[in-house]
Amino acid sequence: MSSSTPALHGLPLLEDLGNLEGKRVLVRADFNVPLKEVEGQLVVADDLRIRSALPTIEYLQRAGATVVCCSHLGRPKGEYVEALSMKPVAQVLDSLAPGVSLLENLRFNPGETANDPEFVASLIDGFDAYVNDAFGASHRSHASVVGPPKFLPSAAGRLLEREVAELGGLLHDPARPFVAFVGGAKVADKLGVMKALAKYADTVVVGGGMAFTFLAAQGRQVGNSLLDPSRIEECAALLEGETTFELPSDVIALEAGNAFGPGCTSGEVNIFEGDIPEGWMGLDIGPASAKHFADLVTQAGTVLWNGPMGAFEDERFAEGTKVVALAIANTRAMTVVGGGDSARAVDQFGVAERVDFLSTGGGASLELLEFGDLPALAALRAASNAPGRS
Ligand code: 3PG
Repeated sequence: MSSSTPALHGLPLLEDLGNLEGKRVLVRADFNVPLKEVEGQLVVADDLRIRSALPTIEYLQRAGATVVCCSHLGRPKGEYVEALSMKPVAQVLDSLAPGVSLLENLRFNPGETANDPEFVASLIDGFDAYVNDAFGASHRSHASVVGPPKFLPSAAGRLLEREVAELGGLLHDPARPFVAFVGGAKVADKLGVMKALAKYADTVVVGGGMAFTFLAAQGRQVGNSLLDPSRIEECAALLEGETTFELPSDVIALEAGNAFGPGCTSGEVNIFEGDIPEGWMGLDIGPASAKHFADLVTQAGTVLWNGPMGAFEDERFAEGTKVVALAIANTRAMTVVGGGDSARAVDQFGVAERVDFLSTGGGASLELLEFGDLPALAALRAASNAPGRS
C-alpha cells in the first residue's frame, strides 16, 4: 500500500476524530448490494460491501461510540420503493455487527441526490462525528457524501482509506511494467479512464465488446460485433499515442441472430484470426490472445484489471476471462481488480482471495483513476479537523 499517495494527503482518518467515548457517529457506507428473492423474501445476494465496512464499525465501537450507518440502495428517485428498502441489508448488518443501526435508503428522499442543505441538516441532527466509508458512492456529489464534513468532525473510514491508497498508488509509483487491462461492453464508458491509464501504464490491454471499436480503428473488419462508430476516431488517437495498446489478434464469435448469455447453446461458434466476416459476432478473445495476455500478466510488476475479456456469463465465451483471471491469481505482480464485472469474474473462477486488492467501487474506481480525486475526498479534506487545517 502506498501511503505517499497524493490522494491521501490532507485526508482526515479515523484517528483524527479524537476521543469518541459516548459520541454518536454517522457512518455513510455503500451498502448498494445485489438482492435476490428467496421464498418470496428479498435477501442480500453478495455481502462483500457490508463486510468491507466492519473494520471501521469495529474501530468506532472499540472507541466507545454509538454507530449509525446510512446508505443508498438502487436508484429509487426520491420516493419510497418497497423493493429497495434497506431491511434485507439491516438483517445482515445486525448479524455481523450487533448494536449498529441502519437508516432507511437515503435516496427515498429527493434531497439526497439533489444535495439539499436541509436534507444534510436533518441527516446530521444528533450526531457528533461523521465517517465516510462509502467508496463506491464517493464520486457522487450527493448530500450524505459531501454535506456532513462541512458541519461535523469527519474522517475517511478504513475501506475508503485503503481504496484511495491502493487505486491512487497505481497512479503514483507502480512497480513496472504496469499493465492495465480494460474490458467490458461499452467503449464510451471507459475512454476517459483509458486516456488516463495511457499516461500511467506501460501497456493497456483492451478486451471485451469495447475491443471491436479499437479493432475497427485499426482498419479491421468486425462483422456483426458490438461497435460504436462515433468513438472510432478517439480509439485511433489512443492507438497512435506513445503507450503500447494490445488488442486481441483472434476472437471467438457466434453466428449472428443467436442469443448468448447464461445457459444459451444455439448457434455455431467459430474462432477468427484477423478480420471477422459478416454474419458473426465476436464475444470473447481467442486462445492465442488469451495466452499472450496471460504472458503479459506474468511479466508485469503491477496489473490492474477492469472489465471482462468477453461475455463470460455464457460458458462458450468465458475462457478468455478465465485465462486472464487465473494468470492474475498466479502472477507475482501487485494485482488490483476494480469494477463489479471483474469482481464477479474473479469470484466465478474462484480466485478472489488471490488478488492483492479487490475494489468495492465501480464508477468510483474509474473516476479516481481518471481524475486522481473524488468529490467525497475533497469534502473530507475541507473538514475542520482535517490534517493541516485545525
Ligand atoms: C455503485 O454500486 O457503483 C455505487 O453504489 C454507486 O451507485 P450509483 O451508480 O447508483 O450512484
